[in-house]
Amino acid sequence: MQTMLEMKNINKSFGVVHALKDVNLEVRKGETMALVGENGAGKSTLMKILTGAYQRDSGAIIVDNEEIQKNTTKTAKQHGIAQVYQQAELVEELSVAENICLGEKAHGRRGIVSWKKMNQLIEELLKHYEIPLHAETQVKHLSSAMKQFVAIAKVLFRNPKIVIFDEPTAVLSDKEVTILFHIIESLKKEGITIIYISHRLEEVFQLSDRVSVMRDGNLVAVLENKNLTKNDLITHMLGKNLGAMYCEQKGKPVSDRKVLELDRVSTDKIHEVSFSLKEGEILGIVGLVGSGRTETAMAIFGADKIKSGRIRVNGKEVKFRVPADAAKAGIFLAPEDRKAQAMVLCRPIRENISLSKLSSIARHGVCNEKKEIENIQKLCTDLKVKMASMESPVQDLSGGNQQKVVIAKAFTADPDILIFDEPTQGIDVGAKAEIYVLLERLRSQGKSIIVISSETEEIQGVCDRAIVMRSGCVAGEIEGEELKQTELILQYMYKEKQV
Ligand SMILES: Nc1ncnc2c1ncn2[C@@H]1O[C@H](COP(=O)(O)OP(=O)(O)OP(=O)(O)O)[C@@H](O)[C@H]1O
Ligand SMILES: [Mg+2]
Repeated sequence: MQTMLEMKNINKSFGVVHALKDVNLEVRKGETMALVGENGAGKSTLMKILTGAYQRDSGAIIVDNEEIQKNTTKTAKQHGIAQVYQQAELVEELSVAENICLGEKAHGRRGIVSWKKMNQLIEELLKHYEIPLHAETQVKHLSSAMKQFVAIAKVLFRNPKIVIFDEPTAVLSDKEVTILFHIIESLKKEGITIIYISHRLEEVFQLSDRVSVMRDGNLVAVLENKNLTKNDLITHMLGKNLGAMYCEQKGKPVSDRKVLELDRVSTDKIHEVSFSLKEGEILGIVGLVGSGRTETAMAIFGADKIKSGRIRVNGKEVKFRVPADAAKAGIFLAPEDRKAQAMVLCRPIRENISLSKLSSIARHGVCNEKKEIENIQKLCTDLKVKMASMESPVQDLSGGNQQKVVIAKAFTADPDILIFDEPTQGIDVGAKAEIYVLLERLRSQGKSIIVISSETEEIQGVCDRAIVMRSGCVAGEIEGEELKQTELILQYMYKEKQV
């Protein structure tokens, strides 16, 4: 088959970090190439060089037999290279069609836009790829997932030759993932070349023809999807066997004492949610995106207004007006949207981690720097945070390593109750296993933990008990051996509320 893209001996350094080392990537015309590897391996950097967002230090880029000398975002676009960005920059006040056409040559005579023609054209495009959107809808009325589909349509409108997806499913629910995969299948049929980055290996197996594996700035293997096993792939990614993903010696709740109780709690988004958390317990909250999981965490944490019902901490009723009140009462929330809620991206890693609890490192208001640095160094080693130094700004870290910093903050805060919302989103398989070990360690220290996840396997592997949410309500509670029955969890997730 014809070669569509060749990246030859690509090198890129950021200061002392040699992020890409003589990387050779070859992608055939019309194939879907998955790009996988540990957090910080260099996947996003390689793609940024391809789209002209970053400049390479050395190496060659050849697209469709033509070498691109100096690659900029403009030349990349001219060569038909397009990336779908997760946080796409859309103009909220404009319509779907206007956003899609923005920046393109106007349609119509003398540069005057013919709205009718534009809307027609976009309506056809949306229909063709079965994207459930309308040309005239204002973007501000769309959910974040649907906005991502506008971003995808924007890319497709420009007739690209190569489309890059960098972890596109992180913010999508199952239903939306189906729509996305359908689009990708259509693109494949049209002979468009696709590069697909994901930590969700099932997706890699489902979509790709071949898989390129990166490790520590090197491209270490190119594998055919056919005959490839999950274990083989993981071994290539980590350079060793993974061993057990989940802790084989799982602990148990320390006692039956209830550290947190929700009694028919309602907000604008959840209805009469009741459950309790025991001392030293790891409780899962599972459900589809939009089922009320994150909103339940927000209610507990004092971020959403409670309309009725009660919350008790250690048996005493609490009324948190703001998250700071919850933090004072010993509750920590590691939120889902790390960029918006969890971190100051331009500040150093060290500061971001220690900000979560200054009192543990300060005496009489003076920071004990040595203690701070020791503590953070140890955490970052445990979590294998890939960084040049603790003084690097968080924004220099790869996506998965930023997520690890959020986890490190939770550990530093040293609260009694920890709530993790999608703790392993964007985290590679190796680091996932590390995080699960750390959760067990927290439990052994008597901490009580809530893990929110859309991955049933994660809930099954980590939790003692799980609450299943659906449409803002608790649809079921599952414990012990029953938790192993995936069918049962799915039933609660998808079916009507059961009493
Ligand atoms: N702008 C930057 N400044 C400094 N270092 C950077 C910058 N961008 C990336 N790096 C470093 O380059 C390395 C590769 O990062 P990259 O984002 O490509 O990893 P990745 O494979 O996409 O990881 P993830 O799976 O976590 O998204 C990391 O060590 C990262 O810290
Ligand atoms: Mg990345």
